Amino acid sequence: MVYPIYLIGYMGAGKTTVGRLLAERLGWHFVDLDEAFHEIHGLSPADYIRTYGIEAFRRKEKYVVEDLAELPIEKVVYATGGGYPCWEDNMECLRELGTSFYLRWQPHHLAQRLALTDLSERPVFDGKDASEIIDIISPQLEARSPYYEQADYILDAPVADDGTLDGSEDEQLAEQLYNMIISNDD
Ligand code: S3P
Repeated sequence: MVYPIYLIGYMGAGKTTVGRLLAERLGWHFVDLDEAFHEIHGLSPADYIRTYGIEAFRRKEKYVVEDLAELPIEKVVYATGGGYPCWEDNMECLRELGTSFYLRWQPHHLAQRLALTDLSERPVFDGKDASEIIDIISPQLEARSPYYEQADYILDAPVADDGTLDGSEDEQLAEQLYNMIISNDD
């Protein structure tokens, strides 16, 4: 497996939480690319988008990912921004830079998870309840899926058979990823 590791997926997929847990477990570095963007550009992605628009954000976001990849450190888990893979040739870039994992969820589960978070950094969902959130997610996820599904590996969220979320899903995903990485580590 080629390092570093890139976690991709829709907002609320757990890229940051899972990435942090995974990196801790592996003893690797963890970089949240939204946070790196904030540090480099002085504005969070949400504020940058509000100020300069989505195109300008995507262009800068692309450079943040590519610039950080120049660092001579391989053992890194990156959590990408949710829209990064769906812009220009970004999935091709990820294929060249390392190994990507798509954390795949059903839209209603993403909506449930997002409704429990602080939505002020996700203006598109701010002030919306879970049912309004799902109306936004469903078409956007459908449009983004062909990009996400170009990942080297796809991990379906480990949701219980009755469809309810018990809060252990991120830990389970991190565990699953850990085992995949360790078993490929030769
Ligand atoms: C975005 C997701 C955000 C952030 C930006 C745009 C998107 O990242 O990069 O607000 O278009 O899906 P998270 O997926 O980490 O929330």
